[in-house]
Amino acid sequence: MNETLKQVTHIDNVRLGGDEKSVVIIDQTQLPNRTVYLTLRTPEEIYDAIKLLQVRGAPAIGICAAYGIYALARQWELWDYDAFAEKFHAQKEYLNTSRPTAVNLSWALNRMEGVVTANAGKPVAEVLDLLGGECRAIHQEDIAMCRAISEYGLRLIKDGDGVLTHCNAGPLATSRYGTALGPLFLGHEQGMKFRVFSDETRPLLQGARLTSYELQQAGIDVTLICDNMASIVMKNGWVQACFVGCDRVAANGDTANKIGTSGVAILAKHYGIPFYVLGPTSTIDLSCPDGDHIPIELRDPGEIRETWYIEPMALPEVKCYNPAFDVTDHTLISGIVTEKGICRAPYTESLAALFQSHR
Ligand code: MRU
Repeated sequence: MNETLKQVTHIDNVRLGGDEKSVVIIDQTQLPNRTVYLTLRTPEEIYDAIKLLQVRGAPAIGICAAYGIYALARQWELWDYDAFAEKFHAQKEYLNTSRPTAVNLSWALNRMEGVVTANAGKPVAEVLDLLGGECRAIHQEDIAMCRAISEYGLRLIKDGDGVLTHCNAGPLATSRYGTALGPLFLGHEQGMKFRVFSDETRPLLQGARLTSYELQQAGIDVTLICDNMASIVMKNGWVQACFVGCDRVAANGDTANKIGTSGVAILAKHYGIPFYVLGPTSTIDLSCPDGDHIPIELRDPGEIRETWYIEPMALPEVKCYNPAFDVTDHTLISGIVTEKGICRAPYTESLAALFQSHR
């Protein structure tokens, strides 16, 4: 692997601080212009970093929350098990409310709490060590999952293909290769050439600020387009596949991802282009029957009116609707690429089978 590709795919987007009482993240809101690392020490700092998208992307927020709750627990000096477990639960619930849509957040926090409950009555010092192991395992597993997703995803495209992506599901949002961008990095590493179209992704521009930055840095041919240009790019015959990430996949395959994703899927269907969702099984929520049950985060209207503009682009009192995610109907999805393989319709069966084979 060449050095520049390694720099992009091995970026330390989230890690435990050296004292194990803090979490260190790259502040994604400052990219691509500045690479700034933040050290998060308090519950509020961790909550705000997730809420304000300083750390973002479904797997990355799960990893940050897991490291975060461990780092907080290390600070407490609470040696009575019951008091420790009670405080752990309260802090976990607090961090879990920072963002509602990506299930990886609650998945990772529940896994951490599972360690506390499974070791009831043990000395707290021992429980702390086990928690340290668990958050590291969550991170390491995500690295392996991203690699496997990249390998499966690469089977879906060939040298010279055009791929359209929306939002950012690369190394910054995950670990190492990323999910939706993983096959592109992996193929590039093997000498393949792709032409990638990156939707800018209004209103917070993850595609412009993060995806085009990651791909360009790695030396992959990327063209930045505004979201409303996806149709013409597809009509021109420049796109052979759409690859997107996911924040929560319901049991029937309905998939929540960054606002605008469902529009891309509808366009892809119109032009006969396969539309793939790539994500780890930690993003699949079998307890959620369909997309209507996925909570959709509503964000500050200021993100539409003011963020990124020198002057506000609308009068302050204008009414805004700012959902952060939408749900792509499972009928529009050609395949869901996980670390365990590619699921095809009917998703109710293929997704459930992933978990059965795991047992
Ligand atoms: O609001 P964001 O930037 O956290 O939204 C992120 C996305 O929608 C990603 O596509 C998704 O989390 C997958 S990241 C592998």
